[in-house]
Order: sequence, then C-alpha cells, then structure tokens
Amino acid sequence: MEKIIEEGRIVSLERVLGQIYRLRLHCPKIARAARPGQFVMLRVREGTDPLLRRPFSFSRIYALKGELEILFRVVGRGTLLLSRLPADSTLSLVGPLGNGFTLPADKSAPLAFIAGGIGIAPLLELIAQVVGGRGQKGSGELHLFYGARSAVELLPEEEVTIAGLRSHFATDDGSFGYQGRITRMFEDVLAEGAFRPLQIYSCGPLAMQYNVAKWALANDMPAQLSLESLMACGIGACLGCALAAATPKEAGEERFVHVCEDGPIFSAGSIKWEKILAQQTAPPTWPFN
Ligand SMILES: Cc1cc2nc3c(=O)[nH]c(=O)nc-3n(C[C@H](O)[C@H](O)[C@H](O)COP(=O)(O)OP(=O)(O)OC[C@H]3O[C@@H](n4cnc5c(N)ncnc54)[C@H](O)[C@@H]3O)c2cc1C
Ligand code: FES
Repeated sequence: MEKIIEEGRIVSLERVLGQIYRLRLHCPKIARAARPGQFVMLRVREGTDPLLRRPFSFSRIYALKGELEILFRVVGRGTLLLSRLPADSTLSLVGPLGNGFTLPADKSAPLAFIAGGIGIAPLLELIAQVVGGRGQKGSGELHLFYGARSAVELLPEEEVTIAGLRSHFATDDGSFGYQGRITRMFEDVLAEGAFRPLQIYSCGPLAMQYNVAKWALANDMPAQLSLESLMACGIGACLGCALAAATPKEAGEERFVHVCEDGPIFSAGSIKWEKILAQQTAPPTWPFN
C-alpha cells in the first residue's frame, strides 16, 4: 500500500494518567486508509531535535471524521516534546505503515486480547472493530486481559469497558485486580475451563510477548503479536528494526524480519525469541537520536 505523507492537526492532547497522554489528530488521508495494528511515523517537531520520526500505533481510528487517536507514554525526549505541544499545532505523519492485525473471518470466534502497559493502545481499536462487527446481539466471548506494574499505570476501568467485552485486570503489585503477571492470570482463567479462545491478540513488553508466544506455541493456538523495535525510517530503508526470524534461510545462516514492513504483527512461531530477548538485555547502541 502507498505510504501517505500528511500534516496532521492536533484536535486534542490530554494527559490520561501518570505519563500517559492521548493525542487526537485530524489527518483524513491516513485516517481513511488506517487499519488496527498499523502505525504512523510522526515528526515530533520541525528541525533536528529529535532528528528521527517516532513510531506510534493507532489507538482509535475515526475514518469518517478523518481523525486518529494515539495513546502514548512519555519515555524520552521525543514523547516529552509531544506531550507539551500547543493546541492547534501540526505534525508531519507518514503512514499507515506495517501489516496490521488480521480480523477473524468467523464473527462468533471466542477471542483473547492480552495487553501489558501501553500495549493496550493498538488493542483498543482492534477490540472496537471486532465488537462493532458482531452487531448488537454479539456472539462468541471476547476477553481482555490487561495488566500493568501498578494501578496508577492502568487506564481507568471505564476506558476499557465495552459492551460485549469481559475485562480482567492484573497488577504486579496487586494494587488493582489479580496480583501477578497478566500472562499468569490468562493461564489461570483458561485453566478454569470456562473460556478457550480460538485466537490471541497481544501487545506489550517483550518479556510478556515471549510468555504469550510460548503459551500459544505449547497449546497450538494462533496468536498475533504486535512487536516493537527501535525504528529510524519505518519504511524498510534503514534495516534498523531487524529481529531474528525463527526460520533460517539455510542451515547455519540467520534470517531477519523487519518490524516496520514485515510487522509489527507477527505470529508466535515466526520469531527467534531467545535471540531477541538476549539483545534486549544488552541493548544496541542507538546512534541516530
Ligand atoms: C510499531 C510501533 C508502535 C508503537 N506504538 C506506540 C504507542 O502506541 N504508544 C507508545 O507510547 N509507544 C509506542 N511505541 C514506542 C514509541 O515509538 C517510543 O516510546 C518512542 O519512539 C520513544 O521516543 P522518545 O524520543 O520519547 O524516547 P527515546 O529518547 O528515543 O528513548 C527512550 C527510551 O525508550 C527506548 N525506546 C525507544 N523506542 C523504543 C521502541 N520502539 N521499542 C523499545 N524501546 C524503545 C529507548 O531505548 C530508550 O531507553 C511504538 C513503537 C513501535 C515500533
Ligand atoms: S525502521 Fe528502517 S527498515 Fe524498519
């Protein structure tokens, strides 16, 4: 699909909680082409500080209004500048990029959505489209498993209360919902036997995604995982977002996938998890900031 370059006008920018902000942009061309799980490369401001665009998923797509919503967490200079932009600013966007989630053809399939921290962002639009596609009666159970380190990092419950969706919450410190990892809660709920999804959709920190992938592979369950990587270009030109792929080209030779073009959505079996987890503990030097 052709990549669109568009000036997006800020419709609203608000702090949701802690370091999490919600940005709504008017950018009709990209909004009309966008699908859940895809992303934009956003220039935080003109000039060279920061030099590179930053990638963000669509947390909501309002195609008719020509608007997009981005839910972001302030983690560094780019996101800090973004959180302080004055109302009515315009931002340069490139998108929609990446493959996006594949929605299930079976509109009654039970589905599980697993989100860790800001990983809830792309799942919100996906859930909205799945729920919308099932009509008023709804059929097939939809369960969201949403975890964070602490209650102060979870979106307010009403933000993820959607008719037809059952939400489960977990925090590492037990300050809200189940105490422990969200993947452990997911396994516990499934072990009770009342719910078994036909497909998992997941987004969150790499260690969480690894646990989801391990479980999905061991239980022969399809999973679509939204993965992240440092990105310089977002369009397949710099090769900076490479992740080791599970299947080598030839014996002894490594093969890579590129998160910006082959992803960001990957199946559990397509990634060489041990390799990318080892890379994360010793992060690559990032020379382009
Ligand atoms: C496809 C994709 C979709 C994304 N969607 C969202 C989203 O919806 N909401 C959101 O809050 N964030 C999202 N991110 C992450 C977001 O792009 C980064 O948090 C942002 O670029 C950081 O910019 P910065 O200048 O504030 O931080 P920097 O100063 O560039 O970095 C601060 C710290 O964050 C780390 N970091 C930066 N980018 C990444 C990354 N991509 N993966 C892992 N660690 C990183 C750096 O190593 C450093 O430790 C997404 C990333 C990708 C690749
Ligand atoms: S970010 Fe440049 S190739 Fe993926």
